[in-house]
Amino acid sequence: MKLILTAGLAALVAMPAMAAPGGAERQHAFKQVLLDFEPMGLMVRERDPYKKGAFIQHADALKLAARQPFTLFPPNSIDGKSRAKPEIWSQPARFAAEKTRFFAAVDALDTVARSGDLAAIKKSYAVVAQSCKSCHDSFRGPER
Ligand code: HEC
Repeated sequence: MKLILTAGLAALVAMPAMAAPGGAERQHAFKQVLLDFEPMGLMVRERDPYKKGAFIQHADALKLAARQPFTLFPPNSIDGKSRAKPEIWSQPARFAAEKTRFFAAVDALDTVARSGDLAAIKKSYAVVAQSCKSCHDSFRGPER
C-alpha cells in the first residue's frame, strides 16, 4: 500500500514536468488522419480501384483519428514547430465551428461509405476535403 502510494505521488509530482502538447504532437496526430484520408482519396479519384470493404475500414478509422488532434490544443501551445495560428485561441467559437463541421463531415462519410454508392461517396469525400482546407486557410500558418 505504502509502495503504491509512493509511486502514485511520484507520478503526480512528475506531471507538471511533462511537456504540454504542442506542434509536434498535433502534427503527428494530423498525419495519422492522413493515413486514412489519403488512401480514400486515391479510390475516390479512381487512381486505386474502389474497394467497398477497405473504404469502410478507412472511414471508420478516420472517424476516430479525426478527434485526436483536437485534444492537443491547450492554451498558449504555439512552439517552434507549430503551424497553429493564435486565432485558434483568440477566436475559439470560429475554431470550434470548423471542428464541428469537420466531425460532421467525417461522420457523414463513414455513413455513406456503407452504401457503396461511389457517386455519393465522392460528394461526401469532397465535403471532408473542403473542411480540411477551410480550417487550414483560417487557422494554419506557414511552415516554420
Ligand atoms: C478545425 C481545424 C482543422 C481541420 C478540420 C483540419 N486541420 Fe489539419 N491542421 C490544423 C492545424 C491548426 C494544424 C497545425 C498544427 C500545429 O502545427 O500546431 C494542422 C496540421 C495538419 C497536418 C500536419 C502537417 C502540417 O503541414 O502542418 C496535416 C497532415 C493535416 N493538418 C491534415 C489535415 C487533413 C487531411 C484534414 C482533413 C481530413 C485536416 N487536417 C483537417 C487544423 C485543422
